[in-house]
Amino acid sequence: MALAIPVATETLAGEKLARAVRAGLASAPRHLPPWLLYDEAGSRLFEEITELPEYYLTRTEHSILARHAGEILAVASAGERLRITELGAGSAAKTRLLLAPAVARQGSVLYEPIDISMTALLVAQARIERDVPGARVRPLATDYTNGFALDPAAPRERRLLLYIGSSIGNFEPAESARLVRKLRTQLEPGDSLLLGVDLVKDASTLLRAYDDAAGVTADFNKNVLTRLNRELGADFDPAAFAHRARWDPIHSRIEMHLESVCAQRVRLAALDLTVNFCCGETIHTENSYKYRQGQAQEMLVRAGFAPAACWTDTRGWYAVCLGVAG
Ligand code: AVI
Repeated sequence: MALAIPVATETLAGEKLARAVRAGLASAPRHLPPWLLYDEAGSRLFEEITELPEYYLTRTEHSILARHAGEILAVASAGERLRITELGAGSAAKTRLLLAPAVARQGSVLYEPIDISMTALLVAQARIERDVPGARVRPLATDYTNGFALDPAAPRERRLLLYIGSSIGNFEPAESARLVRKLRTQLEPGDSLLLGVDLVKDASTLLRAYDDAAGVTADFNKNVLTRLNRELGADFDPAAFAHRARWDPIHSRIEMHLESVCAQRVRLAALDLTVNFCCGETIHTENSYKYRQGQAQEMLVRAGFAPAACWTDTRGWYAVCLGVAG
């Protein structure tokens, strides 16, 4: 009986993956959902990406949080105690920048990281408990895109919900607006949402960030094929696909594709599906939307937040915006 829930969950996840892959590969143009990129190997490769010289996003957001943590906490707390909740916390590498000053302000802080990966949460918990004495960690393993329930904050306590790392950029505009509205419904008036967004900049900087010289982003993109080989009995040859990053200024997004370098036939045994690729045909694997100044605040306002402030770096490459639930 104790095994029933994990087995059922695994089956559901497998069915979701099979349905998404069948539909995506049958479409024209072909595409795959971006969440497929994040199996264990993909999550490890993404961590590597965040340290690449070309991938400015993580470092820039880090610098903004390091510089403005005190102000962010002051605006979010409005003189009350804060508890800090984080969506898609991953390894929580940047969160200590807010947790340490929160402990300094109020003596201790409750930190609630939310992530689909329990492994990532346990790593984050160990790291935060080691590095930030006074932080109490209460992890929640769930797919937050399907909704989640938060414990109500204590009386005279406000929640600061973090959605940083430019994760919002991987959703289509309608989906990201829906997600921010859903987040608003999880919060009480006076709670706040801190959103990290990557800003539009020159195309060459953007393209380098998604097509690095060491080829880590290429490996990250192609790993999706290895995943399909493993989980759906497919026979993709990753070497027969090339990583492509494109900047689409109309939709304001970087697109990642896998381009078939020859005419080839791929079999996905578990789906009883054969796909014929022409030479040069692509599979679209991810979008990463880039915002213009003011767009993140507009999204917050449309979702029912009062836009409190936005902090950017000196180059204006990245923004961290706070909305207070009205
Ligand atoms: C997770 N997300 C914010 C990354 C991004 O920049 O859109 C994913 C990524 N894809 C390629 N490089 C990084």
